[in-house]
Amino acid sequence: MKSAPDAVEIAPGTHWIGALDPGLREFDIILKTANGTTYNSYCVRGSSGVAIIDTVKLSHAGEFFARLEQVARYDEISTIVLNHLEPDHSGALPELMRRAPQAKLYISTKAQLMLKALVKDTELDYTVVQTGDTVDLGERTLHFFSTPFLHWPDTQCTLVEEQGILFSGDVFGCHFCDARLFNDQVGDFRFSFEYYYQHIMRPFREHVLEALELLEPLALKLIAPAHGPILRDVPQSYVQRYRQLASPLLANEVGADNKSLLVFYISSYGNTARMAQAVAEGAETVSGVRVSLYDLQAMGDLPFVDLIEEADGIAFGSPTINGDAVKPVWDLLSSLVAIKVRDKLGAAFGSYGWSGEAINMIEDRLRGLKLRVPIKGVRARLIPTDEELGKCHDLGKQLAQHLTGTVDRRVISMSELLASSHV
Ligand code: FEO
Repeated sequence: MKSAPDAVEIAPGTHWIGALDPGLREFDIILKTANGTTYNSYCVRGSSGVAIIDTVKLSHAGEFFARLEQVARYDEISTIVLNHLEPDHSGALPELMRRAPQAKLYISTKAQLMLKALVKDTELDYTVVQTGDTVDLGERTLHFFSTPFLHWPDTQCTLVEEQGILFSGDVFGCHFCDARLFNDQVGDFRFSFEYYYQHIMRPFREHVLEALELLEPLALKLIAPAHGPILRDVPQSYVQRYRQLASPLLANEVGADNKSLLVFYISSYGNTARMAQAVAEGAETVSGVRVSLYDLQAMGDLPFVDLIEEADGIAFGSPTINGDAVKPVWDLLSSLVAIKVRDKLGAAFGSYGWSGEAINMIEDRLRGLKLRVPIKGVRARLIPTDEELGKCHDLGKQLAQHLTGTVDRRVISMSELLASSHV
């Protein structure tokens, strides 16, 4: 395997000057990095200026400065662009600014707060840029594109207009360290590209789609992300893959005018299952809602996460065992951080023996995930009575009415309100 390279020219006048971190096995606690990672930084030379695009993690600053010095003097640097200020890209920025004090720093509007936290200097001089702003380096023009929430509020991309080179930050990146650098020379990294998208970009799917509207029309010759291989071979295929990954799966099945409600349950003795059936039947009485019922005991989380991403409402039925909802329910709930669930409709119900805490616990978790939980859940001690099944039926119906905007209005007395708040 090739050893760490010197600065590498990736296009005329543009060099990779980043750092390799092959030994990293975990990134930001949540990501496994079986092949390590790279912190990619680039140097762009124009006829009247030199730009540095992104820096590296502080622990790898020495490597970065050594490569930078191979292709530019500090007093030549006219421009520093930070596409994203997470520490893996901004760690060496304060030292770079100290070594090249004449350089102008360009960041996005949202990056200002992070910059001030990173560089403890109240006299900090920088320029805020947004989509359409440009910097002329002489025969090389940097063109900025605001791509917020990919995956932080501050993220942006920078294009070298004349060469079709997109410095994309974390977008189109992945954690994969290979000193051969280019996508047509490194080992097969597709799993890492997909894994990175699923864990970093997927929760921001709507923002991915917004960014693609900006980036897809560009005649890209090369994508230079902040992590992983430099995409020079068929770069548009990675843009197309993002389009596929971010596009809704079930748009054609549910139909634009219908809402989707998923009812999940797990049941020890069939009691919570009967409640789930009643919830689903109640929801089905409302037209315009497609209702689906799933037993969590028979399937892992993954396919359900995909379905929940597309759904408008989700209800969870769980028995209470040892004062808690059961593990398959928590497993699925914990998987929802990977997708956007904010503002979906949520509800809970279930059978219990002694205490019945599971319902409130699930509702709290749903609220914590920013779902709307407007209807109090239904609990039934052991075998649900006809009255309790009727409440489940009502729960399903009300959920469907909330989804379709056809909620029955009713007057709640103060005593009823007080009583419900103490349950
Ligand atoms: Fe690679 Fe979001 O930092």
